[in-house]
Amino acid sequence: MAENARKKVTAPAVRSRLRSEGAEPLVMITAYDAPSARQVSAAGADMILVGDSLAMVVLGYDDTLQVTVDDMAHHTAAVARAKPHSLIVGDLPWMSYHVSVEETVRNAATLIRAGAEAVKLEGGRKRLPMIEAIVDAEIPVCGHLGLTPQSVHAMGGFKVQGKKADAAMELVEDAKALAHAGCFAIVLEGIPVRVAEMVTKAIDIPTIGIGAGPDCDGQVLVYHDILAIEDRFVPKFVRRYGDIGTASVDALSAFVADVRGQAFPNDDESYHMADDQADALGLYGS
Ligand code: KIV
Repeated sequence: MAENARKKVTAPAVRSRLRSEGAEPLVMITAYDAPSARQVSAAGADMILVGDSLAMVVLGYDDTLQVTVDDMAHHTAAVARAKPHSLIVGDLPWMSYHVSVEETVRNAATLIRAGAEAVKLEGGRKRLPMIEAIVDAEIPVCGHLGLTPQSVHAMGGFKVQGKKADAAMELVEDAKALAHAGCFAIVLEGIPVRVAEMVTKAIDIPTIGIGAGPDCDGQVLVYHDILAIEDRFVPKFVRRYGDIGTASVDALSAFVADVRGQAFPNDDESYHMADDQADALGLYGS
């Protein structure tokens, strides 16, 4: 379908996309700038997540804790300028929704003013006052449970969550509370398939899995992982759909070789003066 013929995806439209009611699985892909947002939208994804994975895949940090609201707003604005048909979800970074309810709402508003159409935040029942306040400010909220990367130190590393029965039940209770608080969807990251299935069955809003198996209402992956833009650690749940990293290095190497071999630029790639003007300078033929 032509990009401009697509209908803009909205949070209420996502909210109604339950596989248990026959809906097609939702697709969310991260993007952090205008070209990647245009590509993700052209591919037909329902949602673009301007994720705080920005810290790791674009800015070169080892975890997501280093990005600020200003960083997220800067990249959200770049994504919004691409005018994607996909719903733009801006990730609230670590410490932007932990200090006070008032600060949380202001930070969510900063992402909305930058162009986000919804925000995402990590955590369960202890984040309820913040979630309720953002929803009350008319901002759609996506939850995020399970392996929540902003809790990397508290979890003792990027570890699969909910493997024990009691932890799985906590996740179900968290998901119910988030749905009740008004979230329009919940990302489930790094949890066993059976737990994701239980959570998905327990709530009436869509679950979007990443490392959570096939039974969620949708799936999300990071743009750089799908395209293999870099050959770094690849989590078990990633499937590569391209090898852009290798293609990029090959193309850049060809440019380096052409410059060194004086094969670039050629005549067609250069600007020329009219002959009479070259003559006037005594440069005939330049
Ligand atoms: O920041 C991000 O990219 C995310 C996804 C992994 C869900 O939160």
